[in-house]
Amino acid sequence: MILVSKEKHIFHLSCENFSYVLAVREGRLLNLYFGRPQPAEADLDYLIPSFYSNSSFEQLEQHLPLELPSAGTGWYGDPALQAIGPDGNNITSLKYQDYKILPHKESLEGLPSTQDPAAETLQIHMKDEYTGLSAVLSYTVIAGALARSMKLMNGGSAPLNLTHMASAALPLFGRDYEVIHLRGAWARERRLVRTPLGQGTYRVESQRGASGHEENPFIALVRPQTTEFSGDVYGLSLIYSGSFLAEAQVGDSDSLHLSIGLNPMTHRWLLGSGESFQTPEAVLVYSADGLNGMSHIYHVLYRDYLCRSPWAHRERPVLINNWEATYFDINESKILALGKKAAEIGVELLVMDDGWFGNRYDDHRALGDWYENPVKLPHGLKGLAEKVNKLGLKFGLWVEPEMISPDSDLYRAHPDWCLHAPNRPRTLGRNQLILDLSREDVQDFIIQMMKHILSSANISYIKWDMNRNMTESFSALLPPERQLETQHRYMLGLYRVLEEVTSAFPEVLFESCSGGGGRFDPGMLYYMPQTWTSDDTDAVERLKIQYSTSLVYPASAMGAHVSACPNHQVGRVTPFRMRADVAVGGNFGFELDLAKLPPEELATAKAYVTRLKQIRSLTARGSFSRLLSPYDKESVYGGNYAAWQFVSDDQLLLCYYRVLAEANPVTRRVFLTDLDPQAIYRLEKTEDLPKGLAAREFSGAALMQAGLPMVFDQPGDFNSRTLLFTKVR
Ligand code: DGJ
Repeated sequence: MILVSKEKHIFHLSCENFSYVLAVREGRLLNLYFGRPQPAEADLDYLIPSFYSNSSFEQLEQHLPLELPSAGTGWYGDPALQAIGPDGNNITSLKYQDYKILPHKESLEGLPSTQDPAAETLQIHMKDEYTGLSAVLSYTVIAGALARSMKLMNGGSAPLNLTHMASAALPLFGRDYEVIHLRGAWARERRLVRTPLGQGTYRVESQRGASGHEENPFIALVRPQTTEFSGDVYGLSLIYSGSFLAEAQVGDSDSLHLSIGLNPMTHRWLLGSGESFQTPEAVLVYSADGLNGMSHIYHVLYRDYLCRSPWAHRERPVLINNWEATYFDINESKILALGKKAAEIGVELLVMDDGWFGNRYDDHRALGDWYENPVKLPHGLKGLAEKVNKLGLKFGLWVEPEMISPDSDLYRAHPDWCLHAPNRPRTLGRNQLILDLSREDVQDFIIQMMKHILSSANISYIKWDMNRNMTESFSALLPPERQLETQHRYMLGLYRVLEEVTSAFPEVLFESCSGGGGRFDPGMLYYMPQTWTSDDTDAVERLKIQYSTSLVYPASAMGAHVSACPNHQVGRVTPFRMRADVAVGGNFGFELDLAKLPPEELATAKAYVTRLKQIRSLTARGSFSRLLSPYDKESVYGGNYAAWQFVSDDQLLLCYYRVLAEANPVTRRVFLTDLDPQAIYRLEKTEDLPKGLAAREFSGAALMQAGLPMVFDQPGDFNSRTLLFTKVR
């Protein structure tokens, strides 16, 4: 709901989760409040700072709750907006002009964004009368969240150099906040970091030309007492797949500014007279119900209002991927042998990973040469896909279209098609260079190539990989004054390619990947409803990775595979059950040579696939909550346990894990959440129901308030259970 008080110049956006209140004073746009819902008629104008009228030294923008902190007139922090004008100064002083309420939410030109045709949008128009720079700030309340973006227009006669153009800034009050973000590295993605904020600036960023393994485009502020189940949370997430900056600036007064958007280090834009620039969309979530409360909002929003693929709402096929089974050493008969075994246990989709094209015998060559290697695939993709289909499986394929190997026919033909700076060495990453997707001819090449591949064989799934970050992110086609636009132009080019390819093949299931989860972000989810979560497939490591990824992303977005033992990344030996129980927490698949599994494990694998098919609508569409954190070393569980649940109208799946065995173990309880207290849930009898847990009925109230003992009846480390309950009344 959007309410406007014209005489007081106050805008009140609200829904059942929050109120967001803006006011205009002396041309400045102020943020008065973001938090628990306030009555529509609540008069919050007393929150407008009183020092507007006094002329003390402190009468500076620095102390105002500015919605758009900008450079040059008293805001001393990092600005959300800065434009260098024709006379060389950076004064960027936009004043309120007017507002508009649209009866819909507009798509952002060339950029992914959340969609809801029924949502209203408030647009606030600001302008700098000296340069002619104007901004339209858009606000849409959508599925319990607030979507924000900014469109800049140069109405002056001279070009303006945009150096800072954040998607959203948000002033908050009080200093007892902690910051949460998801930090990591390759194969260690999205580890949860929670730390108190002191005075100064806390930055969460990527300058890599990808959202990255190191940080996710997300930041949250919480109170020290906030838990998974209660307390304030303010989340900011950016729908973008390139370099970004999220920061919390704590000032010397009782104020704090959060912001998120393009990274000023890597993104500049020359805005010519009459031109416009659209920022990516930021999504703000407020929850009074702790971190799970925030996650529930992001999960529904990103699954139902962001992902556009028809697959967003479908059960995903159980897949097998050959990567960890064979690496580059593939050929038709190996793939078919894997497919045959997979079909026997009920797998539905076989994915052929890297190594099928050109001269690709290792990672030193052939990216760009997207035609079948005739020695490995004598019957081509078409012939292989037909044979795989005859086994009863759908056929999927790995590609890495944004890359080019120096040792490739494509590079020999087009050496200037990669990102590079003239007369400087081209830095390799994984022995490869990056195609310059800021160029339309390169975009067209990829679109044609992908359309050709997808039309050439019966391909049901694509894994779209991207295995290095940008260096020399410059383009042969841009003039010097626009070179720092290359990274953003690349993302716009990538989004154009993805738009064309995914909409031409809507029935194909696309999974994005970037050396595992190096581009696990909402921008990619718009086009591809699932992402390969991490190259680390070890079950214990995955507990943490999946747990914290779920802070923002729904389980239906996470690829999770059962892999071989000892694990290829960490060498750990875990029981099959633990590996499978962790993979149940995402889009379930296998990534190992099934022929090497002992017969009893193969039988267990088959049983898992059968069971998975019965519960996957729950994991795809149910409401997911975290119950026990593998990060929580301070709790009585010591971080040795993890648990989560999925709930739908008629089913409940509880998954719990114990990493290391304990001497004289205590039977600990797990307390469920978000159940109907009056409802009765029947624990289903399955073959592996642990001794001591009877298939019986429980009330929702008991499961939540009295808890359920976590029974493990296997000796040793790495124990787990997934228990299915049916809601009987
Ligand atoms: C990185 C991906 O994350 C892996 O799963 C695999 O596809 C390799 N690339 C192939 O090169």
